Amino acid sequence: MTAATTFYWLMRAREADVILHAMTERRRKRILRQHVQTDRLLGVDAVPLGEPVAPVPTAAGSASRSSTVASAVRSNAAPLLATVAEPLPRLDREGKLRVLEAMRLEEVQNCRKCELCRGRLNTVFGEGDVDASILFIGEGPGQNEDEQGRPFVGRAGELLDKMIAAMGLKREQVYIANIVKCRPPNNRAPTPIEVETCWPYLYRQIATIRPKVIVTLGGPAAKAVVGTSEGITRLRGTWHSYVLGPGEEPIPVMPTFHPAYVLRNYTPEVRGKVWSDLQQVMKLVGL
Ligand code: URA
Ligand code: SF4
Repeated sequence: MTAATTFYWLMRAREADVILHAMTERRRKRILRQHVQTDRLLGVDAVPLGEPVAPVPTAAGSASRSSTVASAVRSNAAPLLATVAEPLPRLDREGKLRVLEAMRLEEVQNCRKCELCRGRLNTVFGEGDVDASILFIGEGPGQNEDEQGRPFVGRAGELLDKMIAAMGLKREQVYIANIVKCRPPNNRAPTPIEVETCWPYLYRQIATIRPKVIVTLGGPAAKAVVGTSEGITRLRGTWHSYVLGPGEEPIPVMPTFHPAYVLRNYTPEVRGKVWSDLQQVMKLVGL
């Protein structure tokens, strides 16, 4: 090797070193910024780093996805609620908007299929980006949501907005829906029969939007989507999945605490757990 080529390679090595250093520095700064932001937004005093992060599936279906997910994800092997047998169409943005708007106006708005229709002021269909990677699913409308006809607009909604912001997203970039579209009286949990009666709407929302990941908020939403009787304390923080139908790729599901629960139990531990769950979601969708 001549002195010139040696010099050339030395310089390249130095360049690579500088680039590598800059990259890790950027990454370090990004993580730090994220932590500081969350401290501010979610009021997390200590960001948990200890919780194991499950191997996460890649967005597109692949062999490695099935194997990594299979070990870490518990699927809805015993779904509480039915899926359809025929293949589901994949729609473009226009198609999704059309389908969802028709369902909202022609079906949900006038729905009287269960008792919850009696006490409502408005149905709360759900809202957000129809092409969103993340679908948040709550329990059901509260008083504010019932009055405004929009999901998560009260105090719990404020916290959900902060959670979304801490993930580096805007509310308009995700989709937010509930397992029942009408307010249960006195904010009680919806009954199993109400959940089952309303389920086809949520099912069609999931099938239309086809999110990369579903985040369920609170016990009832987790139970409805994952199809288990396990409590939220045991469900949260680990990957589950939801399968739309035969031949469909499982959609990863991350159950976490309901923001209303977080507000009632505003401890560093509870907030840290929610943040840890959201971090797993961020990792999966590449945020
Ligand atoms: N709680 C929910 O579960 N859903 C809402 O839309 C609002 C509060
Ligand atoms: Fe219909 Fe669902 Fe409202 Fe019951 S909760 S009336 S099923 S929209």
